[in-house]
Amino acid sequence: MPANAVSSAVDPPHECATCPRLREYILRWRDKEPGWFNGPVKTWREPGGSDKVELLIVGLAPGLRGANRTGRPFTGDFAGDLLYETLLTFGFATGSYGASPEDSLQLRKCAITNAVRCVPPDNKPVGAEINNCRQYLESTIVGFKNLRAIVTLGKISHDSTVRTLGLKPSQAVFGHGAVAEIADLQVYSSYHCSRYNTNTRRLTPEMFQDVFRKVSNFLEK
Ligand code: URA
Repeated sequence: MPANAVSSAVDPPHECATCPRLREYILRWRDKEPGWFNGPVKTWREPGGSDKVELLIVGLAPGLRGANRTGRPFTGDFAGDLLYETLLTFGFATGSYGASPEDSLQLRKCAITNAVRCVPPDNKPVGAEINNCRQYLESTIVGFKNLRAIVTLGKISHDSTVRTLGLKPSQAVFGHGAVAEIADLQVYSSYHCSRYNTNTRRLTPEMFQDVFRKVSNFLEK
């Protein structure tokens, strides 16, 4: 496939080289930590198949020592502790979270992906990288035929999701607890469950739960 061709794959190939800066960063970490995953992290979904997925959670990008190390979104870093505890509380996951893909956690009616699939230096993807990776977010959303709701974690993820759904970010503005209906989907935005946001109390566990309570109530209707 030519380098600039748009693919309909839901996940980038492990050797994806579309974004030179991210590719170079991953290759550096492969040298330093050959036992780590060190590649674009695939969407994780409930085991019953794509048609069971009603809720998609869109994070920002893999954490260096989290998903980039373990290969599963939000697994092994601080952000995953609050996310998975909250998903368990609202029945979007079963089992127990052990910060490893070998734990007993399973998603229920939901899937988790990232706006950018490769770990970015300093957790900060640049605009071109977000744009390059949007094709995978789009194919992922299209592939979930029974999707009803999306939770976006942080403004970058929110804006990329809104663009994926065909609107400009100014037409569905990011804000913690904001809800927009776009293309028959309810899009809930939340502050990202990062260590920084939780340590500074910009996001409390209660605020995070409020978002998932709303989603849960909506999906039960
Ligand atoms: N881990 C992820 O997979 N995504 C994030 O946004 C943060 C941590």
